[in-house]
Amino acid sequence: MQKHSLIENPYRPGAGHAPPYLAGRRSEQDQFLRLLHQPIITQNILLTGLRGFGKTVLLDQMKATAEANNWLWVGNDLSESSALTEERLALRILTDLAQAIATRMEANWGPTQVAHDRLQQRIEQITRDDGSAFTFDALKAHYEQAAGLPSDRLRSVLMHVTRLAHKVRISGLILGYDEAQCLCDHAERNEYPMSMLIETVSALQKKDGLTPCLLVLCGLPQVFDALIETRTYTERMFQVMTLDRLSKDETRAALTTPIQKFSARLHTPPELIEKVVNLSGGYPYLIQFFGRELVEQLLESGGTLSADKFPSAGAVERLDAGLFSARWNRTTDKQRELLGLIASRPLQSSNDFSARELEQLRGNDADATALNFNQMLLGLCERGLLYRTRHGRYAFTVPMSEAMILRRLRREEDISASWEVRAPSPPQHHHVPTNKTSTARQKRGWFR
Ligand SMILES: Nc1ncnc2c1ncn2[C@@H]1O[C@H](COP(=O)(O)OP(=O)(O)OP(=O)(O)O)[C@@H](O)[C@H]1O
Ligand SMILES: [Mg+2]
Repeated sequence: MQKHSLIENPYRPGAGHAPPYLAGRRSEQDQFLRLLHQPIITQNILLTGLRGFGKTVLLDQMKATAEANNWLWVGNDLSESSALTEERLALRILTDLAQAIATRMEANWGPTQVAHDRLQQRIEQITRDDGSAFTFDALKAHYEQAAGLPSDRLRSVLMHVTRLAHKVRISGLILGYDEAQCLCDHAERNEYPMSMLIETVSALQKKDGLTPCLLVLCGLPQVFDALIETRTYTERMFQVMTLDRLSKDETRAALTTPIQKFSARLHTPPELIEKVVNLSGGYPYLIQFFGRELVEQLLESGGTLSADKFPSAGAVERLDAGLFSARWNRTTDKQRELLGLIASRPLQSSNDFSARELEQLRGNDADATALNFNQMLLGLCERGLLYRTRHGRYAFTVPMSEAMILRRLRREEDISASWEVRAPSPPQHHHVPTNKTSTARQKRGWFR
């Protein structure tokens, strides 16, 4: 108990929480730095990856790098409501712009106090000379007075700001938006927020006399589809960074570095570390999750633990509850049936699957109720469990979903079975695949 209070668990499983040790992601950070130094900006960034792969954490890292290089970072999380219409998206950007300028003015920003004071003086001078103000109200008034469509008016505001940024020698402006999968065009309602954003940035990038402007969009893999479906046909404007899971060495470093300082009190033999490394499979969220559970279990057991005691049953339950249950709880019985079928499909070497493959799988089942697979898969996409891949196939948004689904279904079956008068025969159709070694895993050094 006393040990508990002496050691603060360093791991940070959660959404967007900076890890105690950021493993890997070096090449993405180098690529970002290179793009900051483009003489003329022609390439923007699309950062994608599955849930919990570390997109937000990397985006925060990019923000810090950008600011250290004298760029102004304007951005936020997009929500469905803020990205629904062109007008709303423009308003979101104006709000973030005003906020970023205010923060830059207030903060003790710059390599030195002198540099900060000089920047502030230059901005004040310009404000006096041409009567510009950069509060939200002033930017909104500018937007409303500008002529044309929301895209023309947003462009006018951004030009005004980037011209100022050029005068005060800010290196550039980044529009950095997370959860960009919320951003897509809605042709049926004649609303094109994604196209508007891209057109606006592209127009700014072609103008002289402005500070450079770079767009960084970050989100789940479907953001790429939303991009190709825009009417701008400008996916060539983007360098796509797809975050993969971490390699085995990176995973080991992410796990062991944060607890090195506790080595006198927490004993972590190599086989225990290897077990945790393998359990995490290189998924950043799982590294933090199992890391935290490891420290808790070590503390509970007086600082030593044999590998076969990890993870506790409670840890597995917490994992399912944290990563999965909110989405699972919103599914219907029919959707669960389909998820069970997907999770127990025999060929799991490939991460994605098609409606047709599932139909064939289901074809052997004589009692099959008629399911419209395509429609149901789209329903699961809407619930956030699946996404459509670029090739019109489907895949899970959360890593390890298959194992979690099978655990859920087994538990539900066990509970129903416990209420039956006669013991039913053991369930056959949701069997846990025992040999899940996949080529994808082998690729990055994962053999299980
Ligand atoms: N490179 C890394 N090394 C170690 N841990 C990491 C790394 N990247 C992310 N993490 C951890 O993984 C978890 C998920 O990170 P993050 O929230 O950035 O993922 P995400 O891809 O943005 O997820 P979502 O799609 O849900 O928004 C966090 O707990 C974070 O601390
Ligand atoms: Mg995120």
